[in-house]
Amino acid sequence: MARVVLTGGVGFIGFHVARALLGRGDDVVIVDDFSAAPYPTAMKERNDRDLHHEFGNKLHTVRACITDAAALKSVFSGASGVIHLAGIAGVRPSFDDPTRYARVNVEGTASVFELALAAGITRVVSASSSSVYGNATPLPALESAPAISPESPYAASKRGAELVLSALSLKAKHVACTGLRFFTVYGPRQRPEMAITLFARKIIAGEPITMFGDGSMKRDFTHVDDITRGVLAAYDHDAPGFRVYNLGSGAPITLADLIVALGRAVGREPNVVRAPVPLGDVDATFADIAKASRELSWTPRVKLEAGLTTVAEWVRENP
Ligand SMILES: NC(=O)c1ccc[n+]([C@@H]2O[C@H](COP(=O)([O-])OP(=O)(O)OC[C@H]3O[C@@H](n4cnc5c(N)ncnc54)[C@H](O)[C@@H]3O)[C@@H](O)[C@H]2O)c1
Repeated sequence: MARVVLTGGVGFIGFHVARALLGRGDDVVIVDDFSAAPYPTAMKERNDRDLHHEFGNKLHTVRACITDAAALKSVFSGASGVIHLAGIAGVRPSFDDPTRYARVNVEGTASVFELALAAGITRVVSASSSSVYGNATPLPALESAPAISPESPYAASKRGAELVLSALSLKAKHVACTGLRFFTVYGPRQRPEMAITLFARKIIAGEPITMFGDGSMKRDFTHVDDITRGVLAAYDHDAPGFRVYNLGSGAPITLADLIVALGRAVGREPNVVRAPVPLGDVDATFADIAKASRELSWTPRVKLEAGLTTVAEWVRENP
């Protein structure tokens, strides 16, 4: 029986990946510290409760920090693979706590990989981010771009984690180790501080939403159902060696157009106020998804309009 260690499994993306793994019959052990950053612990406890309610004893949850190797040794023992999604997310707050970002995202990833190696695990999938491309990468961004000019401590920590995995893979050539660069993920249970869910709540409540800059900033929004299929496709593709893939929609949209589309999905006219672009926000993200399509047979399926409706419904049902 396949047993997968899923770090960050009670977070936004982790919840959906856990459901998909459990739904296809895998056993799952979640490792998560339920930390209150960047959003309340209660939401993670709810995700955990909902998973346990649906899947019972096919799922175990271990409340621990990924850097606590002593506590996690027995958890990794006997597992067939690791999907490592735990991390501190968020570009803007990373300027206020860069040490924590480096510790959790870089040291934590190194620790997870070491634990996997010590347990004889030969499959590791790790969450990275489109933020590694910064502003200097020509768009659409290719995985082969150097990605050496991060615009935030968060971006630097995600690139650092990739480089640690790449270097460690030199001594562990038998391990299939994959970094997945997620492009702005949205959907039900999205982190509440992220644009689409935050905006949807405000539009429904009749409150103003803040648009950074003139609205021309572009993002490659990717629905969590597509990301989940991509994570499983990468996990199942167990060719040895280290590689990275973009998981994005490949169809960026401006912030201004997003707000119009979201207003339509919610059924209410957004009231927009403007503010300067915060430090760390890049001008545009745009994934080249040819590599994931070629090697993982993965392509995104959820169109933005349909995806926004899933958020509008979630927000209405969960005020
Ligand atoms: N959501 C996105 O748009 C996006 C985009 C690019 C990359 N990512 C990456 O994907 C992963 C999941 O993101 P998410 O949006 O689901 O975020 P999330 O915050 O909802 O999930 C991350 C989970 O990791 C856990 N965690 C944090 N620090 C930990 C620690 N020290 N030990 C154990 N668990 C810890 C948190 O409690 C949380 O449940 C992260 O690595 C993030 O950097 C997300």
